[in-house]
Amino acid sequence: RNLLVLNGPNLNLLGTREPAIYGSSTLADVEAAAMAAASAHGWTVDCVQSNHEGDLIDAIHAARGTADGIVINPAAYSHTSVAIPDALSGVELPVVEVHLSNIHRREEFRHHSFVSAVAEVVICGAGISGYRMAVDYLIGSAGQAAE
Ligand code: DQA
Repeated sequence: RNLLVLNGPNLNLLGTREPAIYGSSTLADVEAAAMAAASAHGWTVDCVQSNHEGDLIDAIHAARGTADGIVINPAAYSHTSVAIPDALSGVELPVVEVHLSNIHRREEFRHHSFVSAVAEVVICGAGISGYRMAVDYLIGSAGQAAE
């Protein structure tokens, strides 16, 4: 079984980007943490990062039939995109939305995410651990559904 871990714009800069807000972990660290959490349960992870909204949407569409759930940090598109939540609804996979920072402690424009309305779970402010929690949640809930 397999999960898609999708990271949106500017997250390729993790590690050097505003470390006081986002920490010192790199995108590779984030992806490795998600992979380790999944492989502990015998699951695999496909990781995609893009700075382009359409590429994120294509990756969501491609997850239909290849993934059993999606972990997504839509980054700034959380606050602007209707097309990304529409794509997530369209593929009918369980979704966990992750933000490294606590978006509610930050500027007003970050408080609302269009993606949250289509996510089963929203995790923010836990840093890189949020990705582990998201993977554990999706694997755990898939196990319950199989029982
Ligand atoms: C972010 C929060 C967003 O507001 C911001 O635009 C990001 C990263 C986070 O992980 O904390 O790029 O999604």
